[in-house]
Amino acid sequence: MSWNPDQYHLYSDHRLRPAIDLLSQVDLFDPMTIYDLGCGTGNVTSILSQRWNKAIVVGLDSSEQMLQKARTEHPAIEWMQGEISNFDPSSKANLLFSNAALHWLDNHETLFPTLLEILRPGGTLAVQMPNNFSAPSHAILYELAQSDRWLDKLGHLVRPAPVHNIDWYYDLLSPLVAKLNLWETKYFQVLDGKNAVLEWTRGTALRPFLNALEGDDVSEFEQEYAELLLEAYPQREDGATLYPFSRLFIVAESADA
Ligand SMILES: C[S@@+](CC[C@H](N)C(=O)[O-])C[C@H]1O[C@@H](n2cnc3c(N)ncnc32)[C@H](O)[C@@H]1O
Repeated sequence: MSWNPDQYHLYSDHRLRPAIDLLSQVDLFDPMTIYDLGCGTGNVTSILSQRWNKAIVVGLDSSEQMLQKARTEHPAIEWMQGEISNFDPSSKANLLFSNAALHWLDNHETLFPTLLEILRPGGTLAVQMPNNFSAPSHAILYELAQSDRWLDKLGHLVRPAPVHNIDWYYDLLSPLVAKLNLWETKYFQVLDGKNAVLEWTRGTALRPFLNALEGDDVSEFEQEYAELLLEAYPQREDGATLYPFSRLFIVAESADA
C-alpha cells in the first residue's frame, strides 16, 4: 500500500502522544540495539535515538515513501526497507519498539512470539496499536465498502479486526516473558478542520480503499464516506471535532539470561 507522509502528519501531535506514553513505560537503562518496527517517517525513531544516544537505532519500514522522508529528515539514523513479519536481524534487540504499525499485520498469534525471539535476554518489546476498528470512523468505511455499489471493487479489503482483546495478549504472552504491562487508553482527540475525521482517515485507514479505486470512483467513494462521517462526527459550534480513539499498549520484558 502507498503512504502519503504529509497527510499522515496532519495530526502528528495526536499521533505522537501515544508513542510517548508507551516510551514512558520502557524501563531500560542502556540498551545497545534498538529497532523501530514500522518506523514511518522516523519521528518516533528519532526520539528513541535521542533518549538512548549511545545505542544503535534502526528504523524498519516497508514503505519507500515513508523511508525517503525519514532519510532526509534524520540522516544520522540507520533506515532499512523490509517486512516486519520477515524481520530477522543479525544482531538481536534490547528494545523492539513499534508505534501504530502492528495492526497492519495479521496473525498476531504467530507474529508476537516471533518478535520475542529477536529479543536479547532482559530485552523489551513495546507496542502500541490503534484499537478503534468498531468505532464509526472504521465501521462506516467497512459497511460502505461492502455495500452493493462497492462490494466488487472494495469488499476484499475489509479484514477482520486485526487487534485482539487485551486479555488475549495476556494469555499469548505471559508464558513467554518475565513481565507484562498492558493497558488501553481512549484519547478524546480534539481536531481542527471541516471534516476532520475524514482528514485523519485519509492518512491511514481510508488509504487502501482509495488506492484500489480509479478515475471518478475515487471522489465518489470519498464523498459518500465523507457525508456519513460528518453525521457521525459533527463539527461542534466552536469549529472543533471530537474524535474518540482507543489504543492498546503492550510492554513485554523477557527474562534475564
Ligand atoms: C501509521 S504508520 C506509523 C509510523 C510510525 N511508527 C509513527 O509512529 O509515526 C504505520 C507504518 O507501518 C508501516 N508498515 C505497515 N505494515 C508493515 C509491514 N508489514 N512491514 C513493515 N512496515 C509496515 C507502514 O509503511 C507505515 O509507515
